[in-house]
Amino acid sequence: MSFDVDNIRKDFPILQREVNGYPLVYLDNAATSQKPQAVIDAIVAYYSHYNANIHRGVHTLSQEATDAYEQARQKIQQHFHIGKPEEVIFTSGTTHGINLVANGFASLLKTGDELLVSAMEHHSNIVPWQMLCEKTGATLKVIPMNLSGELEMDVFNTLLTEKTKLVFVNHVSNALGTINPVEEIIQKAHAFGAAVLVDGAQSCAHIRPDLTAWDVDFFVTSAHKMCGPTGVGMLYGKKEWLNLLPPYQGGGEMIKEVSFEKTTYAELPHKFEAGTPNIAGGIAFGAAIDYLSKIGFEEIARYENELLDYASKQLLSIEGLKIYGTAENKTSVISFNIDGIHPYDIGTIVDKLGIAVRTGHHCAQPIMDYFKIPGTVRASFAFYNTREEVDRLVAAVKRAKNMLS
Ligand code: ALA
Repeated sequence: MSFDVDNIRKDFPILQREVNGYPLVYLDNAATSQKPQAVIDAIVAYYSHYNANIHRGVHTLSQEATDAYEQARQKIQQHFHIGKPEEVIFTSGTTHGINLVANGFASLLKTGDELLVSAMEHHSNIVPWQMLCEKTGATLKVIPMNLSGELEMDVFNTLLTEKTKLVFVNHVSNALGTINPVEEIIQKAHAFGAAVLVDGAQSCAHIRPDLTAWDVDFFVTSAHKMCGPTGVGMLYGKKEWLNLLPPYQGGGEMIKEVSFEKTTYAELPHKFEAGTPNIAGGIAFGAAIDYLSKIGFEEIARYENELLDYASKQLLSIEGLKIYGTAENKTSVISFNIDGIHPYDIGTIVDKLGIAVRTGHHCAQPIMDYFKIPGTVRASFAFYNTREEVDRLVAAVKRAKNMLS
């Protein structure tokens, strides 16, 4: 399929609507992407034609639902280059995946162990580890970043020691767009025997990771930022790790046998999938992968990089506008402020003109503290955005500046 943005936009019903009397310009893709008709259809088809619980029934509907859900697991396995389907754990999203791993490490850590976190993490990749440190006596250390929003890899090298047990870093920063050198981080951490968890929530709509080539220990992501539904995501873990970690939640479907004396747990992946999952969500996650794959990740990256360059240049033509996050390797996220104007005020005015951006700290307060700002305006672009939409954003920001200065 060749890249034709006008045709692609027709796949997204929401892009036809108006907001406050203007055609919608949706530039909050880093918070959640829009959904193509193919994903919406997958959800409707499940509830309309084969709604049933999975792994539990001998009846036809249950078997159809189980097959569709397990096919989605295989699509995820293939898409992310994962060795075995049982290494794919369905979760409710990235936050769930990180908490599952952090909880599992509680019995594996002791006082004196060290965990390394990058300075540009989302709160979901900070707080669960702080809670783990409180439980175990392990210490959290921070890999700093520079003013461009790139990790200081020379400091990372000095922080890594025999005490380091875990390193966690995002593939792409949700607030700055930086693409982190995760393969180098994994290789260096492994040289010290430390495991690595990569948070892919912000990267997977733009880049197709090869988890086998990376040799990463854990990888987490959410469907909803890659054209899939909310409330579903996946955790990849190497089989050896997943076998070692205890279950996160107890309940139905994660057991082998239950008695009041003793319970034994099911094999992977079911050990980590207690309760009835988000069946429609899992199936639609598979549909989202099919949809993005048809367009092609190289095409998506090429187009989005052009949009990013164009939007950066146009926004920087506004006097007093500063972009936070100027890494050489970045995805299509532009966080910015204008001298003397609160980001919230800009966000409110551009919304009145039909343009959706996010304002605030983007669940990454340590980044805002580093730059000594309360927050930013964040415009995040997807492959269905256009240059005309960038022009509308720039005009709206200029208008906001004139009104607020
Ligand atoms: N983590 C999401 C964002 O960056 C919600 O906006």
